Amino acid sequence: MALPPFLWGVATSSHQIEGGNANNDWWDWEQIPGKIRDGTRSGDACASWERWEEDLDLIRGLGLNGYRLSIEWSRIEPEAGRYDERALLRYRAMLEGCRARGIDPVVTLHHFTNPRWFAAKGGWEERANIAHFERYARHLGAALGDVVDLWVTINEPEVFGFYAYDAGLFPPGMRDRVRALNVIANLLEAHGLASQALRESDRVDADGDGKATLIGAAKHWVLLEPKSWWSSFDNFASWAQHRIFNVAVTRALTGGTIDLSVPGSARIRRTVDALAGSSDFLGVNYYTRWMVSPVGKIPLTARKGAPVNDLGWEIYPEGIERALTECARFGLPLLITENGIADAEDQWRPQFLRKSLTLVDRARASGIDIRGYLHWSLLDNFEWMDGRNGRFGLYAVDFDHPMDPRVERASARVYAEEVAKRRSPIEAEITSEASPRP
Ligand code: FCB
Repeated sequence: MALPPFLWGVATSSHQIEGGNANNDWWDWEQIPGKIRDGTRSGDACASWERWEEDLDLIRGLGLNGYRLSIEWSRIEPEAGRYDERALLRYRAMLEGCRARGIDPVVTLHHFTNPRWFAAKGGWEERANIAHFERYARHLGAALGDVVDLWVTINEPEVFGFYAYDAGLFPPGMRDRVRALNVIANLLEAHGLASQALRESDRVDADGDGKATLIGAAKHWVLLEPKSWWSSFDNFASWAQHRIFNVAVTRALTGGTIDLSVPGSARIRRTVDALAGSSDFLGVNYYTRWMVSPVGKIPLTARKGAPVNDLGWEIYPEGIERALTECARFGLPLLITENGIADAEDQWRPQFLRKSLTLVDRARASGIDIRGYLHWSLLDNFEWMDGRNGRFGLYAVDFDHPMDPRVERASARVYAEEVAKRRSPIEAEITSEASPRP
């Protein structure tokens, strides 16, 4: 089966859906009172570690041909240098299960969580620790490369860095911008080295399209605008934040040189040989835009009077077009690795989806090379510091009874219909002919 020209799919991450990920830093963080806004914990999450086959059936039932999932490093390598064969086999079954259903897996190696042992060694603050991640990438490439062609090394290095080391919202909960920059630099370097390790260890072309590994990182592309257009403070602040958060990080991922600076703060410059040419595509996660102002207590706010989702983020599907146009300037093909809305009642999502997909069509028609759209998310899941409040699923999950059937939201059908209109009859046939079980 050749790689379909366009992936239509959904995205999830291990810690948010699997349940029982008790060996990573997030698990410990969740136990500390006050860290999760609604006081919940990931716990059993969606119980997807057990229910993965049903989840894959849901994806197939929607007529999709792509699934972005992440591998939990702390399951694969529970102690430094010790690999858990059984965990690896479970992931292998999932990935083979994708293929058997005509679904191309897109596999993320790092999605915010760190093994406890890695965090104890200083985590991403220590440049020397990058070697651990590189080794893990090499291990995965060798063990799973025959079923995976599309890899995402790191999810949102900039969100991880700023949330964990500057805003204090992710473990280890620091508030130090200089440390955050250093962590982001280390993650960017890790992307380069992990890409190299994957290219060396995964030489198997899983789907026979002539490409054994296509690698990218997922960038959280957020639109940042001045809160008051007439304020020079707001204009400068939004420009400066865009420059560091969006541009500098993406430049490193696509160009090879790390140059991160925050006005009045530190500057980190590094040339990393492994980064040059490390990305085959740029993963784009788009959700919303924020209004920026350095004046007042809250630097980022939703636009005044704008409709907001359940987490208070402006509902602004229109922004995806600008995000894609800006990302395309870096010269790589784009893969939309996340896009979605927290909307428990599903009031806004159908329209959000239709609008977003129309704009993706328009971006493609204008000549932007987009390889796929992966909606966040298949299921409601554990939304980091927002706990159970951010419900992004096409399917609702009852977290108190995660073994109960997932409940389809109207949006799931909307998405399936929109995708069916766009998929060529030949591609759709490939998915429907795939045998239902590995
Ligand atoms: C992204 C994260 C993902 C999820 C969505 C809502 O920044 O990558 O795990 O939390 O936001």
